[in-house]
Amino acid sequence: MTSIQRLRGTADWLPDDLARLRRVEASGLAAAARFGYREIATPVIEPTELFTRAVGDTTDIVTHQMYTFTDLGGRSVTLRPEGTAAVLRAFAEGPLRQAPRPVRLSYTGPMFRHDRPGRGRYRQFHQLGVEAIGEADPELDAEVIAVAWSWLADLGVSGTSLRLNSIGDATCRPAFRAALLDHLTPHAAGLSPLDQERLRRNPLRLLDTKDPDLLSLLAAGPTIATHLCPACREALARVEAALEEYGVPYQIEPQLVRGLDYYVRTAFEVWHAGLEGAQNALLGGGRYDGLLGTLGYPDAPGVGFAAGLERISLLAAGSAAPAIATIAVCSLGPAAVAVAVRLADALRRLGCTVVADLGPRSARAKLRRADASGATVACLVGDDEVGRKTVTVRDLRAATQAEVAVADAPATAAALVAGAAAPG
Ligand code: HAM
Repeated sequence: MTSIQRLRGTADWLPDDLARLRRVEASGLAAAARFGYREIATPVIEPTELFTRAVGDTTDIVTHQMYTFTDLGGRSVTLRPEGTAAVLRAFAEGPLRQAPRPVRLSYTGPMFRHDRPGRGRYRQFHQLGVEAIGEADPELDAEVIAVAWSWLADLGVSGTSLRLNSIGDATCRPAFRAALLDHLTPHAAGLSPLDQERLRRNPLRLLDTKDPDLLSLLAAGPTIATHLCPACREALARVEAALEEYGVPYQIEPQLVRGLDYYVRTAFEVWHAGLEGAQNALLGGGRYDGLLGTLGYPDAPGVGFAAGLERISLLAAGSAAPAIATIAVCSLGPAAVAVAVRLADALRRLGCTVVADLGPRSARAKLRRADASGATVACLVGDDEVGRKTVTVRDLRAATQAEVAVADAPATAAALVAGAAAPG
């Protein structure tokens, strides 16, 4: 019979890697909290329409990557491919819509995209994001970038670059789109069928191509920068000025567009030299004024970013999980089990990590297992110790041991595991 294996593009998080992922996540939430962002959690499944409307029905995410199925009630539901749409829905659907603005929210959790799996690219991956909802000031765009920057600094991630662009708004983007269409249409026959479809439905989608021929064709075409209306130009200048105040270095990237349709004006990504090429950004975000209206709610502006935790974990310093000092409590013979269980319990109350070895093995075997488990201290309780109301406390690194009264054993073992002097 063939063995059952995990789905392609999904990962099992084993303890060391998971500990690192959790540290990266906790550090991101803490950085966001310093800026006033409070954590929110939304469901993993949502009505499909939330994403088709928010992310856009010409995007790769919606056309090719969503895990969509009909549930038993006959409703089309989708495993969330991103967090922003759901956070906005939660904001607008509940009491947060009345909270003082901007409403600053952070979130983390698994996201699902049926993407081509590769290094740092999964079908189930984890994002940490923030959204600041209800305020249009461009200084808020710089704030969410500063949250990301401060997090990366806390993690000791260096070698990152922030790429910034304005992709215009409803006033100026149509003219850019028309200019782009004029430039590309004569070359349409040379494009792949998928790119021809994109050209027809949403030519802006072509800007984030990785195809070198198309890239050089685009380089010779119009840029959004020369099409920005005065309001968009002023907003970009204010984002830049605020970034300078925050001390966040950036470069303007005129070709930067994002893979989701909801952005207006500010769009940004943070890249890392080690993740270039086929890889994507460490994190990305931007402003999405108008998105709430698209979802059928009273409109409110907003801005945010999301980062891939797998990608950030690959780069985070101090990646080895700190070893947890452990005590092995071993009973030798059935009469010692009760004393061992009580001793283990007392040690755990003192905050120690304790593994109990209560089975019918020899003292030698138990000491070997204690060593292999990474324990630094073993407490041995055999028939002799039970009779004398004592415990043998052994320092496994120094290979020294002492017999102490049962009542003193927890304090002795706890002090030893904390690095205090060896007993005896
Ligand atoms: P996104 O650029 O689609 O933006 O994703 C953000 C980040 O999620 C990426 O930069 C990447 O680190 C990570 N990511 C995306 N796809 C994968 C994958 N298949 N495997 C591993 N990591 C991945 C958004 O999702 C927007 N909601 C960001 C945002 C928040 N905009 C405003 N607020």
